[in-house]
Amino acid sequence: MDRKNPIGVFDSGLGGLSVVHTLRKMMPEEDILFFGDSIHNPYGTKTKEEIAKYSMDICRMLESKGAKAIVIACNTATSACVKDLRQIFDLDIIGMEPALKPAASIGSHQRIAVWATKLTLEEKKFAQLMSRYKEDHDIRKIPCMKLVALVENDQLDQQAIVDEVLQEYLEQSDWQNLDSIVLGCTHFVFFKKRLQELTEGKIQIIDGNEGTARHVKELLEEKSLLNSEGGDIVISNSRKDKIDLSKKLLDVLEDLDEI
Ligand code: DGL
Repeated sequence: MDRKNPIGVFDSGLGGLSVVHTLRKMMPEEDILFFGDSIHNPYGTKTKEEIAKYSMDICRMLESKGAKAIVIACNTATSACVKDLRQIFDLDIIGMEPALKPAASIGSHQRIAVWATKLTLEEKKFAQLMSRYKEDHDIRKIPCMKLVALVENDQLDQQAIVDEVLQEYLEQSDWQNLDSIVLGCTHFVFFKKRLQELTEGKIQIIDGNEGTARHVKELLEEKSLLNSEGGDIVISNSRKDKIDLSKKLLDVLEDLDEI
């Protein structure tokens, strides 16, 4: 494997662009090949079998384009099929899971709401993760499927609609009695700043993007596969009409960093 080969990244749609953004910040000289599967979005209400099939097809495509590792920038696809993918592909496959560990390590008896898709919250993988923390902490599971649609439908700048949906989930989470919200879906990272504003900085809003990017970097470093000459990002999508929106969302993430 050549260190100049790209890192393959995929998601059920556009949420994975938030992971691309973090990877680029941490490893600006890596080439990244991103695939968003917007035609099948959302994965969060599909069956495990359906998601496994889509994910397998995407990994095959990324492998055929020379990906040196594949990041599943999707908690839902990770829950559904990371094990299967690791068995089939002879490549490092890096998955994502809700960042409960950093939320729980803030202190004892943390009150944590995990915002994720229906499938992520119902899967065995999350139950196993939760079993490590649920004795010592109060953990609430909040499925937030409407947030996925707001990103896919290019509604992020419709502030009134965004706020109404966020308030609905904040209320369900009883946020005034929380220590943190874990954003267990890559689509939700687009709402992080707004959530910090709506909750007036009183609770922590935690996502797993940095931890994942750090893990990818360490893995590539270990295998002497870090690139120092690239930096290209190629965006593709199962819906061609989502390419412009993808580019716009990467710019949104840049702007959010500057606030
Ligand atoms: N972005 C995906 C995740 O991280 C989920 C969105 C979907 O339901 O397709 O879980």
